[in-house]
Amino acid sequence: MIIGLKVLALLTEPATAREINEAAQGVEGIDLDLRMVGEEGPLSHIEAARLTHLVLLEIDSQDEGDLQRTRELVATVGDRANVFVTYAQGDLKALRTLMRAGVRDVLPQPELPDQLARELEGVLVSERDSLRADQAPRGKAIAFLNAKGGAGATTLATNVAYHLAAGGEAKVAILDLDLQFGAVAMSLNLRPERTIQDALDAPERVDPLFLGALMTEHDSGLHVLAAPESIQGSGEIPGEVARPILGAALESHDYVILDLPRVFNPLMVTTLAIADPVHLVIQQDIATLHDARTTLDGLATLGVRAEKLELLLNRATGKRLGDIREEDIPALLGREIGARVHNDFEAANRAQAEGRPVAEVKSQSPLARDLQALASRLAQPSQATPGSAGDRRKGGSLWNLFRR
Ligand SMILES: Nc1ncnc2c1ncn2[C@@H]1O[C@H](COP(=O)(O)OP(=O)(O)OP(=O)(O)O)[C@@H](O)[C@H]1O
Ligand SMILES: [Mg+2]
Repeated sequence: MIIGLKVLALLTEPATAREINEAAQGVEGIDLDLRMVGEEGPLSHIEAARLTHLVLLEIDSQDEGDLQRTRELVATVGDRANVFVTYAQGDLKALRTLMRAGVRDVLPQPELPDQLARELEGVLVSERDSLRADQAPRGKAIAFLNAKGGAGATTLATNVAYHLAAGGEAKVAILDLDLQFGAVAMSLNLRPERTIQDALDAPERVDPLFLGALMTEHDSGLHVLAAPESIQGSGEIPGEVARPILGAALESHDYVILDLPRVFNPLMVTTLAIADPVHLVIQQDIATLHDARTTLDGLATLGVRAEKLELLLNRATGKRLGDIREEDIPALLGREIGARVHNDFEAANRAQAEGRPVAEVKSQSPLARDLQALASRLAQPSQATPGSAGDRRKGGSLWNLFRR
């Protein structure tokens, strides 16, 4: 993908604006947003600055207030955007202060157009290189869906995403697509300023940079695209909106974990078509297994290939629960169980209440080990997909519940 370099110029002098326009015209692929800054000061443009690759700030290098505002701008957007400063006159002391603050370079004004054109080309090349590096290999979209409310999809999605990110080798994002009751941010004790709603409201603006600015970073390095804080209207969201959002997330991450709600709306249908694998989280009880059958049928009707479906048995105990033994499940659902995750109410509950991953709350528990193992399995280049469970056993009262 060829990207345009988004440049935000925050200027005080009309003559500088003319020079910058001239410099930008000489470089292909520049998307210039030029703003004259008055009394309001550059920091009131911080929202726009978050969404750009390069910010060029015009300051008075003798003004302590301007130097302070530059420091604040770099502190807020410097990890994402390259901040350059230009001034009419400046001494070595001002230059040192600015470089120490994290400004990428200072462009004194007499040579501004030439120097800026060179810098723009340099940043353009490095942004394209890093995007290309991010694109290879293209990310994997891994979905978690529950067969019944509370089966554990969010717990599994969040903890698997955490382990993949905490490994330190991969760029990992989790997208909370449970738009009404999403709990991913809460389960990681994050208070996001932006949410997926910003992307749903402006799908035409979504690219890796824009989406990145909407994500909140967890200490593990995991990028979280949170669900909206409150229920937003009742309007149906067109399914196609999922494509730019997932596409942008996949371009800039190795793994994109999708926490899905249990609704089959257009957004979900598109998401399920893109995700691979799709994990269906079940528990060992009649009601959940019954709904799992309905869900599996629904997924088949939607064209979700059986090979990319994986059953995850959550809260596994290895014991018989009511009428059901774990060994009965493959026959009941017509599929093998892909992986099991131990039952540990105390650890799961404490992790949720404290907003921490299970591994940080009870690292040596079988539950933490299962979640880590699930992540490791997904990180392997090709995982074996479990086959279908073969013939269903005949007879038995349980079968009547499942027969169609
Ligand atoms: N392996 C486990 N052992 C014990 N408790 C668990 C386990 N996994 C999840 N839980 C608990 O089950 C409850 C529901 O989990 P979670 O929110 O992950 O489910 P969900 O499928 O995402 O539900 P929802 O329908 O609300 O989206 C939580 O209180 C969680 O702590
Ligand atoms: Mg959930």
